[in-house]
Amino acid sequence: MPPKPPLVITVDGPAASGKGTLARTLAAELGLPHLDTGRIYRGVGVALLAAGQDPSDPAAAEAAALALDPAALGDPALASEAAARAASVVAAMPRVRAALLAFQRRFAAGPRGAVLDGRDTGTVICPEAKVKLFLTATAEERARRRHDELRGRGEASIYADVLVEIIARDRRDRTRAVAPLEPASDAVVIDTTRLDAAAVFEAALVVLRARGLYPAGPRGSPVA
Ligand code: DC
Repeated sequence: MPPKPPLVITVDGPAASGKGTLARTLAAELGLPHLDTGRIYRGVGVALLAAGQDPSDPAAAEAAALALDPAALGDPALASEAAARAASVVAAMPRVRAALLAFQRRFAAGPRGAVLDGRDTGTVICPEAKVKLFLTATAEERARRRHDELRGRGEASIYADVLVEIIARDRRDRTRAVAPLEPASDAVVIDTTRLDAAAVFEAALVVLRARGLYPAGPRGSPVA
């Protein structure tokens, strides 16, 4: 059998829209490597916090981005709300984004392709991706999901505070001058407000099937 051509799928969207779960599931189903690009920005934020530096200092943030060790991306500290906040701050800095671009592109250029999720993977990192998905949901629903997730991890969480934080992050991510959060013009937008993870996955498979990248009918092995 001839080798399959590489397949790159991007999944972008705001916090708690379900993009990480979908990207992981698609990668497992299609046998593709997966990169959660948010972890890269979280890694920079955590490195700064751990060194006692200010995430809003552009020079310190750029240095941390250039020194980022991919092995540190598995650190459980990256899941905290403090890490998310610091990530959102450093992610607005053009030089930080530039420092992290090559790593993300190299990952996507692997022989099998990849599934990447984040905010700008379809617009900036992989504008030639074969499939671009953009997930969205109301801020209230996303705050509820994040609140439940934090509680599930045993962390103290107040819904109203989580909602305020989500709205503030959305604003920072959507209004920044460089690589703002927005769907690529050729992205398929999926509103996940009323969908569970299985239904979001099915919606993504409909897109893949329509492009001949996944067999029709019951789940099986991809054709591309
Ligand atoms: O998806 P996440 O919550 O792990 O992302 C953390 C922050 O990183 C988020 O506020 C925006 C930023 N981010 C980004 O600007 N570009 C990406 N491709 C991924 C994340």
